[in-house]
Amino acid sequence: MMNKLIQSALVFISVLMSATGTEQVVYVKAGESVTLNGPASSYHYVDWYFNDKSQHIAWINPFGGRSPNKDNFSLIGNALVIDNIQQFGTFIYEEKSGNGRLISSKTYKLLQVSVTKTPDSLLMSGDSLTLGCNVAADMKPYIYWLTPREEQRTNPLSIRATSEDNGQWTCVLKNIRNISVSVVVVGLSPAPTHQYTSVNLPLTVPCSLASHLSWKHLKEKGIKYVQWHFTPKISSHGSQEVLFNLSLEDPITLRPVNDNGLHPASDTTKGNLSLTKKQWKEADRGNYTCSMIFNNDVTVSTTVQVEVLQISSYPGTQLIVGQKVNLSCSTGDLLPAGVQLKWIPPEKSSLRISDHHSTHLTIPEVGTDDKGRWRCELWQNNIPLTSATIMLKIEPILSVWMLVIICGAAVIIILLLVLAFILCRRRQRATRHLRHRLCRCKNPKPKGFYRT
Ligand SMILES: *[C@@H]1O[C@H](CO)[C@@H](O)[C@H](O)[C@H]1NC(C)=O
Ligand SMILES: *[C@@H]1O[C@H](CO)[C@@H](O)[C@H](O)[C@H]1NC(C)=O
Ligand SMILES: *[C@@H]1O[C@H](CO)[C@@H](O)[C@H](O)[C@H]1NC(C)=O
Ligand SMILES: *[C@@H]1O[C@H](CO)[C@@H](O)[C@H](O)[C@H]1NC(C)=O
Ligand SMILES: *[C@@H]1O[C@H](CO)[C@@H](O)[C@H](O)[C@H]1NC(C)=O
Ligand SMILES: *[C@@H]1O[C@H](CO)[C@@H](O)[C@H](O)[C@H]1NC(C)=O
Repeated sequence: MMNKLIQSALVFISVLMSATGTEQVVYVKAGESVTLNGPASSYHYVDWYFNDKSQHIAWINPFGGRSPNKDNFSLIGNALVIDNIQQFGTFIYEEKSGNGRLISSKTYKLLQVSVTKTPDSLLMSGDSLTLGCNVAADMKPYIYWLTPREEQRTNPLSIRATSEDNGQWTCVLKNIRNISVSVVVVGLSPAPTHQYTSVNLPLTVPCSLASHLSWKHLKEKGIKYVQWHFTPKISSHGSQEVLFNLSLEDPITLRPVNDNGLHPASDTTKGNLSLTKKQWKEADRGNYTCSMIFNNDVTVSTTVQVEVLQISSYPGTQLIVGQKVNLSCSTGDLLPAGVQLKWIPPEKSSLRISDHHSTHLTIPEVGTDDKGRWRCELWQNNIPLTSATIMLKIEPILSVWMLVIICGAAVIIILLLVLAFILCRRRQRATRHLRHRLCRCKNPKPKGFYRT
């Protein structure tokens, strides 16, 4: 049953091919190379024609003879290869037997696909960009565009370029073929909007030229200067502080404007403008902006919000058993959606934490088991961002009282000794005085001057 079906199908196809030949539509861009695979075996005579047989391009005979390669046409086996195609039309393949009977034929209809990009140069953010994709035919396939982020757009399209438009755009001839066009928008590599670290930990604030750009490109586009500046989270009046100024002379270097503990990356000449700091502080919280300013006053910049996590303890880290303690773990701001906090008490602590994700943690009565390292971690989609720790020292209440008593006793004893000493001295002086007086009574000595 199945075999019969296949057989009849094969017969049908061969009849169709021998009788009418077949046609294939090929979509090509000017300048591309095309390979047209001839369908049949090489027992017979093969001819390739162009434009309704007006041009005989190539031939093959059964004795191993074949036409020489000519201009941009060459034969590989049965296939015709066309290099740098400039003329579009129909190519015809014909296979004949020795007596000139047509055995099979195939027509290849080459349609020109033209892709246009205006302007065809580096774009600045904000420049208009037009992309078009067209097929020179009455029956056009369905055509649309895919952005570098694979979002679908209609054809043709006109947009104001942003750094997100940088990359490969794809013209899709639905179910036929895809053609890529590269769009270059002057910009900085996308950086995460938030970067997390904690007090005394290191962090690199990223900024780099988009990977396809070099300083040479930017100089061509009239770059004026590059700057890093900082807007502290807790600022008096949104004041900005310039951190680094880039020198565009050779060698390209980031020059610190003031001493801020930040170090530029070693490969600034290659476009890496990142800044690293070994120990971040609470005061470093804020926005770090890396900007390129061009002659026409266009600014291209990226801003990274640096969040420094810190645990603080009220009333302090030296505690006595039984005290109530409030710990808070925060970046000084509400956490963005999707970022979660997690508390990790010291191993021995028996505190039941009701809400692991709350900024504040209250220990109603600390015990000695609560002493040690308390940690809080920030997580986003099961990826740890950073963590902070705090050491709590907890003294048993008894020892504190004993210390107080011992100290008190020591102080009292010292006071008593001092008192005794003073009293003793005073008595000694008093007896000496008395003896002195007694002595004067026995042998009175003349006092002052006597007249003689
Ligand atoms: C072959 O290439 C030349 C230029 O190198 C061009 O003028 C000519 O049109 C091309 N032929 C076809 C069929 O595309
Ligand atoms: C063209 O791109 C679309 C969307 O990415 C994809 O589904 C399709 O398979 C591609 N077609 C070809 C011929 O590569
Ligand atoms: C930092 O940038 C964000 C988003 O760009 C903004 O919402 C925030 O107000 C900025 N903070 C400061 C201190 O400038
Ligand atoms: C940084 O450089 C630019 C251009 O060279 C200059 O206008 C600006 O005043 C400089 N800023 C500082 C803080 O040095
Ligand atoms: C830039 O330099 C920093 C610090 O040296 C490094 O961590 C980062 O990976 C570099 N970035 C690029 C894009 O090379
Ligand atoms: C500790 O936190 C609780 C609730 O978070 C609050 O009611 C209390 O006033 C805080 N106590 C101190 C001493 O800060």
